[in-house]
Formats: sequence, C-alpha cells, structure tokens
Amino acid sequence: MILILLGPPGAGKGTQAKRLMDSHGLVQLSTGDMLRAAVAADSEVGKKAKAVMERGELVSDDIMVGIISDRIDEPDVAGGFLLDGFPRTAQQAVALDSLLAEKGRKLDAVIEMRVDDAVLTERITGRYTCAKCGAGYHDRFQKPAKAGVCDKCGGTEFTRRADDNAETVGARLQAYHAQTAPLLPYYRDKGLLRSVDGMAGIDEVTRQIEKVLTAA
Ligand code: AP5
Ligand code: ZN
Repeated sequence: MILILLGPPGAGKGTQAKRLMDSHGLVQLSTGDMLRAAVAADSEVGKKAKAVMERGELVSDDIMVGIISDRIDEPDVAGGFLLDGFPRTAQQAVALDSLLAEKGRKLDAVIEMRVDDAVLTERITGRYTCAKCGAGYHDRFQKPAKAGVCDKCGGTEFTRRADDNAETVGARLQAYHAQTAPLLPYYRDKGLLRSVDGMAGIDEVTRQIEKVLTAA
C-alpha cells in the first residue's frame, strides 16, 4: 500500500504516521525528518535547507523530488510506504506520479487531515520529542504518563524543533494554503482523496483513518 498524509503543519501527520507504521507495516517517509537529519549532518542538502526551514518556507522542488526518488528505490519500502510531508507543491505531485509510474507502482489513497488554523499554532508550539527514541509528545494533548520520562524508552531528555515557534508557524501555514492546499482538488479529481476530521482526539483520528482505508 502507498499512502499520502496531507494536511497543514501540526495537523497530526507524524502522530498518525507512527500508528499506521505499526498497524499496517508501512514505512514512514517524512521529508521533514529527512531534512532535519540532513541539517544535523551538515550535508550539502542540509546547508541549503536550514535557513529556508527556519523561515517556514518550502525547500526547492528539485531537492525534494531528488530525495524522494532516491528513497523509494531502497529495498525496505518495497512492501509499502506512507508519505508524510510530501508532495507539497503541484510540481512535486506530478513528479511523484511519474516516479511511481516508472516503477509500475500506484498510490492507494491520499488522506486529508482537516484542522482549523486556530488550533494548529497551539499544537505546534506545545510539541516536543524524546531525544533518545523520537516519540512525540505535547505539553497539553499528549503528556507522558510520568512527567519528564518517555513512555516508550524511559529517556529523560526532550527536544523542540527550531521552526516550532509562533513566528515561523505563520509562514508555514501561509505556505500550506498557497502551495499545498491546491493538491486537494488534484487528488480529488483522481478519486484518491479521503478526508478525516483532524480536530478530533488522537485515537478518534486513527479510527477514522482505519475506516477510510477499509473502504478504499
Ligand atoms: P515537516 O516536518 O513536514 O513539518 P509540517 O508539515 O510543518 O508538519 P509538522 O511535523 O509540524 O506537523 P504534523 O502534521 O506531523 O503534526 P504532529 O503529528 O507532530 O516540515 C518542516 C519543514 O521542512 C517545512 O516547513 C519545509 O521547510 C521543509 N519541508 C518538508 N517537506 C518538504 C517538501 N516536501 N517540500 C518542501 N519543503 C519541505 O502533531 C503536532 C502536535 O499536535 C504534536 O505535539 C501532537 O502530539 C499533537 N497532536 C497530534 N494530533 C492531535 C490531535 N488529534 N489532537 C490533539 N493534539 C494532537
Ligand atoms: Zn523515548
């Protein structure tokens, strides 16, 4: 199965992707995570992406398509994958169609996570991650059972993303509405779009995604 999770920053794409990995054995391909790894490694891509990401703008289509093209050739994704954060522009969507066609593969569904802008800022500015295992948490919505201790690995160090501040969130939302939201009609016209209510609680969103996948 090949899926796309499509939604604004903070919609819950990463949160649900982790659950779909476990429930459907899909590999999560998060372009944001790949770029953050490139920035941490100070690679050529990382050097180009760092300032763009800190401004909340989109990294160039050439770089992004190159990253995804290489990644979907790797053997671990042969059984299926889940795109989280890609495609984000019309050009990326068209490039993905060609890449999949070349490999004789096809998209099964595009899951739109609908969330009002007003709640996204709170979701993003309250988010933090376990430094050891990458588990995601939120100051209000997803606290570890024991304060300061990761549920998954017992780690006690947590990190926050450089672009998770109120100023950058505004630019990220603008980029979403201007460049990514036009992909909704693109996939609707192909009969692939399935929408879920991303304003619901985390478990309810998972339930809705499972339901649309059963019907897909
Ligand atoms: P990226 O890393 O993709 O960030 P994003 O799209 O801004 O998405 P987020 O990771 O912020 O949100 P999410 O939807 O995964 O939400 P999460 O599950 O964490 O991209 C970062 C940057 O990289 C971009 O700005 C751009 O510069 C660049 N980039 C990446 N891909 C690119 C591409 N293809 N082209 C060009 N540039 C690219 O949830 C958020 C918080 O809310 C969490 O704390 C969570 O616990 C909580 N939460 C989740 N669901 C719920 C719920 N239902 N109820 C309450 N709380 C919830
Ligand atoms: Zn952990």
